[in-house]
Amino acid sequence: MNLKLNNKVAIVTGASRGIGFSIANKLAKEGVKVALISRNMASLIKAKEQIINSKNIICFDGDIADLNFIKNTIEKVYKKWNKIDIMVNNAGINKDKILLRMKEEDWDAVINTNLKGCYNTMKVVSKYMLKQKSGKIINISSVIGQIGNSGQSNYAASKSGIEGLTRALAVELGSRNININCIAPGYIETDMTKELSHEILNNMKKNIPLNKLGACNDIANLTCYLSSDLSSYITGQVINVDGGMTIN
Ligand code: NAI
Repeated sequence: MNLKLNNKVAIVTGASRGIGFSIANKLAKEGVKVALISRNMASLIKAKEQIINSKNIICFDGDIADLNFIKNTIEKVYKKWNKIDIMVNNAGINKDKILLRMKEEDWDAVINTNLKGCYNTMKVVSKYMLKQKSGKIINISSVIGQIGNSGQSNYAASKSGIEGLTRALAVELGSRNININCIAPGYIETDMTKELSHEILNNMKKNIPLNKLGACNDIANLTCYLSSDLSSYITGQVINVDGGMTIN
């Protein structure tokens, strides 16, 4: 399948590792010029070194919850490459605690990063996309925003919020040729899941019809498709990549 992404321009948040790194890597392989955003420059540079087609990669370190950082960063990307075709909102954190123990700062940190971070980038990037009359925005939520989980009320609220934000802006910006979709991953193999015991992993797999965890590449593959014009009649959707765990 030819995605025809060569020479497109993308911004990927949380691109230094895990799912965000896989997305940036796969887009770069398709010939996309990619701006990587994450909190730490050293890890961004390490990530850039691992990207095979890295000549058109630029890195920005900062906090996506900070609207001024986002404004400055997106302006720099636009000045460098004269367009922004793809925005991937992947960066996310969790600070899990049952509600009675959850501090206000745990709530604020998760909502500000996961939900306000998406608002920030979409508010700024849509200005450029409206001007150029095209754009693809892909937000990464989570099945936890749909099914909930004890100890994750802040995370679940932020991820359901991202799905609502996706639908509202898809309606608002649809007539201007801007597609906004959401990918909801289930359990994905990352550094974090590598540390889990066999017992915990087996229990997780019992609830997954495909009986395995997903790979970062499973999310990256769909992101590339949603970044391409092959998906031009899809907008406002939440697509689960979860091995079937939310079927029931
Ligand atoms: P990770 O923890 O491995 O990487 C997160 C990335 O986001 C890092 O690059 C980090 O520096 C960046 N980041 C975090 N806060 C930031 C901030 N305030 N400003 C800028 N950058 C920031 O995460 P992972 O596991 O790769 O997950 C990526 C996304 O997928 C997250 O939104 C997560 O909620 C979601 N997800 C992950 C699942 C999994 O099983 N790993 C399952 C469902 C959803």
